[in-house]
Parts: sequence; C-alpha cells; structure tokens
Amino acid sequence: MKSFFRKIIKFIIFKILGFIFKQKINNNDYAIIFRKANNSLSISKPIFKFNFHGVYTIHNMDNVISGDFYKNFCDAVEKYEEREKYIGLIYRYYLAANLADAVKGLAGCFVFAGVSFGLCPYMVCKQIESDKRGKNIYLIDDFKWMSPGREERHVHYCKDQKHVEERFSEFKNISVNIINGLIPGAIREIEDELISFLYLDTTNSPAEIESLPELWKRLSPGGIILMDDYNLGAGLSMKQRDEVIHELGGCVISTFNGQGIVFKPYS
Ligand SMILES: C[S@@+](CC[C@H](N)C(=O)[O-])C[C@H]1O[C@@H](n2cnc3c(N)ncnc32)[C@H](O)[C@@H]1O
Repeated sequence: MKSFFRKIIKFIIFKILGFIFKQKINNNDYAIIFRKANNSLSISKPIFKFNFHGVYTIHNMDNVISGDFYKNFCDAVEKYEEREKYIGLIYRYYLAANLADAVKGLAGCFVFAGVSFGLCPYMVCKQIESDKRGKNIYLIDDFKWMSPGREERHVHYCKDQKHVEERFSEFKNISVNIINGLIPGAIREIEDELISFLYLDTTNSPAEIESLPELWKRLSPGGIILMDDYNLGAGLSMKQRDEVIHELGGCVISTFNGQGIVFKPYS
C-alpha cells in the first residue's frame, strides 16, 4: 500500500515538474532532462542550447549553433525574418545547406518550390557561393498564397518578390532565377533539363505530390529531394508522398524534425 502511494506521489510530482519545465523549454529554448537514477527521480541542469523544432538532444551540435553557418544564419534572419520565430528552425536550413552542398558537383540545377522570403535557398547559396563552377537556381513562388481559410496563418509569408530579388543580388557565381508561379504548372519554366537538388516547402502537399513524378524524371541520379513538411503531423500527405516515391523507385528517410530526404538511386 505504501509503495502504491509512493508511486502516485511520484507520478504527480513528475507531472507538475513536467508542466513547469515544459513552459521553461518553450520560453527559453532550454531543455531539461528527467533522469531516473537509483530508482529516484532527479532533474539535470539545462544542457541544451536549442530546441530544434521539437527535438532536444544531448549531442554536440556546435556545427549548427556556432561557426560560419550560424553566423550567416543570424545575419540573414536579422534582415527579413523574426529571429525568435526562425531560430528553432535552424536545423532545417542546416540540413538543406549541407545536402545541397553535397550534390553541387552533380549535373543539374537547384530548384526551390515555396520561397516566401527565401531564407532556405539563401542559406544554400551562402554554403556554395565560393564554388567557382556556378549553379543555376530556380525559386518558384507566386508570392500571394491566399487560399480560403488560410489567410491569417500565412499572413507572414512574403508578398513582395522584390525582397527576394534584393536578398539574392549579392551572389556572383550563382544565377538565381525567380519563377513567379506555382508548381506543378511552373515546372515547365525550369530551363535546365536536369535537377540535382530539389527543396519542397510550399505547405501545399497536394501540389507537391502532383509535381513529384515530373520532377523525379528530371532529377539526376544521386540527386536529392528534401521535403520540408514530410512528417510534421500531416499523416495523410506523408503516406501519399511515400506511395508516389516508392512507385518512382525511391524511398524517404524521415528526420526527427519533420523533414523527409530522398536520394535518387543510380540505376
Ligand atoms: C513555408 S513558405 C516557404 C518558406 C521558405 N522555404 C523559406 O525558406 O523561408 C511557403 C511558400 O510556398 C508558397 N506556395 C504555396 N503553394 C505553392 C505552389 N504550389 N508552388 C510554389 N509555391 C507555393 C507560398 O506562397 C509561400 O510563400
């Protein structure tokens, strides 16, 4: 009986601490770990710098939260984005920048569908800007996402293409082409035959799923698709994407932070 009450009290304490510290995680971007040591509950000191969009880690993430990548990211968000809103998303941009960097030597251009202020393609361009071989980059967006019922949610998206033109004007070795339109229709305006890196971030999964077969045809073997909204909770679209990708001959690697990565196999 005693041990039963002890368990209940422990459970209540755990819930209360969880509630308190969860608030703290959200407010301060710090994570608290609950550890069970010697059968007793203890709380360690905050040891993480960031909440990577719902993922807390004890591992060394210095490559993400310090150094050149971090500095470029902070400089970039100072200008157009709200820093607090974007800092938790930093791992998404880190993945995009490094995956694109890995395939920059493959034949084909880089395509970004869903641009808004262009932070992700900008971070990719920063990563590859010193490569003298140059790259063609296509940014596809109509800059006026306004579907019924979603206006309020998407009010923070960029509605002025000029911001994006200005943001990308600093790059010398990279040819940035803005296609004012929507996928799937706008795919036909991509002049390069091949694509080596494709980033899908439209928050419009039906359009992305419909576009996949045509984009896959043009993806170089070894090329990469990074889907920003893959397993963020939109279960149906994840399943639908999986079906299409499997049919095309690929498979999706889920990431902890909601993205999906696809490598096009060499046949
Ligand atoms: C989440 S934002 C993109 C954020 C961007 N990737 C970044 O790095 O900051 C989504 C954008 O997708 C655009 N969009 C919605 N449907 C689209 C479609 N079918 N084709 C291209 N862009 C689309 C919207 O206009 C909006 O600007």
